[in-house]
Amino acid sequence: MANVIDGKAVAASVIEKVRAASSELEAAAGVKPGLAVIIVGDDPASHVYVSSKSRMAKECGFNSVQHTLPAETSQTDLLALVEQLNGDATVHGILVQLPLPDHLDADAVTQSIKPEKDVDGLHVINAGKLMTGDLKTGLISCTPAGAMLFVRQTHGADLSGLNAVVIGRSNLFGKPMGALLLAANATVTICHSRTKDLAEVCRRADILVAAVGRPEMVKKDWVKPGATIIDVGINRIPAPERGEGKTRLVGDVAFAECADVAGTITPVPGGVGPMTIAMLMANTVTAAFRANA
Ligand code: GUN
Repeated sequence: MANVIDGKAVAASVIEKVRAASSELEAAAGVKPGLAVIIVGDDPASHVYVSSKSRMAKECGFNSVQHTLPAETSQTDLLALVEQLNGDATVHGILVQLPLPDHLDADAVTQSIKPEKDVDGLHVINAGKLMTGDLKTGLISCTPAGAMLFVRQTHGADLSGLNAVVIGRSNLFGKPMGALLLAANATVTICHSRTKDLAEVCRRADILVAAVGRPEMVKKDWVKPGATIIDVGINRIPAPERGEGKTRLVGDVAFAECADVAGTITPVPGGVGPMTIAMLMANTVTAAFRANA
């Protein structure tokens, strides 16, 4: 049976450090890190995520502001709000929860956030810094940064000689995850819906990272014995065994069977999930320190 990573515990230790850094900044400069979260529309899952982000920001001693906008908000109004927050010295981090309603241009909104306040790491300046190997001066997307902490805990900082396979090529996760693994000297393959012989590619992975949004897609026979599996998927599936209409959360990896083969594996829930919020807090405190350097 594989070692199962306790994401809640790792996230709690990150949050502890963030809290200490936040108090230190307040004591030294009289400044509280400020995080502004914007949510447009009423997607229930997004509201759950945003509430957790706002709650955690308060627990970290931040100045936490949430802007809840109606689904019919115009692009002009949304851009005006971002512009206002860009110019607000008490706000160090801005996050626009995705997905946005279809009539809005998410890319234009994301790129309108000042790179120094882009705690999601989605601005081309931050993405570009990561791609060119500058891991120090930009802001790195939260979920890959969190997943990378797990990888480092298991394998150390140098992944020389290891094959890493990432399933999924999104700007929010797959691409930055690939870049972080590459910066740590892994040999990286990024797979996606057009990849041929996916199972075969995955079987070569010493580190297998799944972020596709397909419930339990990765099976036991896709896994190299002893591999490290990081499951980024969060999928809600029907669970009739729990009663009529009940659901449960599963990842992109068939956990029970893969845990028989893997060396280390992350559970869902309780793996990567808690890390995303923790790294968002870490990015916000980093941005606040830089703004007050
Ligand atoms: N929606 C799902 N995950 C994320 C995230 O990490 N950041 C933003 N902005 N939206 C999301």
